Amino acid sequence: MMLDRLGRPLRNLRLSVTDRCNLRCEYCMPEDDYVWLPREDVLHFEETSALVDVFLSLGVDKVRLTGGEPLLRRDVPSLVRLISSKPGLKDLALTTNGVLLADQVDALKAAGLRRVTVSLDTLRRDRFLALTRVDQLAAVHTGIAAAHRVYGRFKIDTVVIRGVNDEEVADLIEYGKSVDAEVRFIEYMDVGGASRWSPERVFSRREILDLLSRRYGSIESIAEPESSAPAERFALPDGTTFGIIASTTEPFCRTCDRSRLTADGMWYLCLYATRGVDLRDPLRRGASMDEIKALIAGAWRDRTDRGAEERLALGDRRAFVPVQDLLRKDPHLEMHTRGG
Ligand code: GTP
Ligand code: 5AD
Ligand code: SF4
Repeated sequence: MMLDRLGRPLRNLRLSVTDRCNLRCEYCMPEDDYVWLPREDVLHFEETSALVDVFLSLGVDKVRLTGGEPLLRRDVPSLVRLISSKPGLKDLALTTNGVLLADQVDALKAAGLRRVTVSLDTLRRDRFLALTRVDQLAAVHTGIAAAHRVYGRFKIDTVVIRGVNDEEVADLIEYGKSVDAEVRFIEYMDVGGASRWSPERVFSRREILDLLSRRYGSIESIAEPESSAPAERFALPDGTTFGIIASTTEPFCRTCDRSRLTADGMWYLCLYATRGVDLRDPLRRGASMDEIKALIAGAWRDRTDRGAEERLALGDRRAFVPVQDLLRKDPHLEMHTRGG
């Protein structure tokens, strides 16, 4: 197994297939305009597939398709088909905002997609519009119904922001029960793109647990000692389970086995990394798979990233990347480019 300098293996690859999105979520894409990746730089599915082979040969066994909104990329089922039958792959999942899911879920399943996770932050139409700038909550509900029809139990991800949707935490648990989904609450992170982030707006794991135990009674933690997943899982007295991803107040960098490939083939070793490894250039120059493998292995062995822990250690903390300069010049710093 290939380990980085902190002893962490590379097992998880998040593939962002497009930097475009059809929503403008306040915590991810709050600005009016963005610099997009040049179209000609975006990897063809065959190129992505070739890189996935290299990653699999180095120990990756979980792949997740993300965006932007991955379903805006034309014909994602074809990419799924290229990847899903590769030997060594144990999991292939997709993170989506759900708006386009109903139309595509059958084709995705047929192509071999194993799981879907739908992002949903509010159950109120007016709030959804304010939070995403698009009046599409009904389409998300349709997508969620389709996800349940095709996949049975699935996950819903909710970013909790103080003063925006923190009062909906229990309602979202109830909604999750009604659609057979496990809801996971994510702390608001100060990643690139979250230019309106401030520490006061983070609704913490502790606060989520306090709020839910006032409403439901005692909450049990579900021990998963082998897990490197960011979510900690809990059970309510009636057995309903839910998760919390405490990326901001209790980061999990120590066990982080994830890396990210952007749609244009830049490889990032941390969500907070400001520099990535360009894999598109060697690929398009005709480098051999062994050369690319050596490039990836070398970078991983040198990896010391623990971005969220370093951010936590800072005293005075404001948005990570000032919009005015960096973000405008380099789209790679955006969360919607490198995948949420
Ligand atoms: P499962 O395989 O279903 O457990 O997926 P996952 O836990 O990787 O979850 P998912 O991909 O749905 O990610 C949920 C959220 O967790 C993301 O949108 C991020 O907000 C956060 N997250 C995921 N990976 C990382 C990471 O490497 N670092 C940090 N700090 N946060 C992450
Ligand atoms: N904080 C936390 N999660 C975020 N995401 C994007 N931006 C942020 C942020 N600032 C994640 C959420 C969302 C997914 C698309 O990206 O999990 O559901
Ligand atoms: Fe991994 Fe970086 Fe997230 Fe820490 S902040 S968990 S090292 S991606």
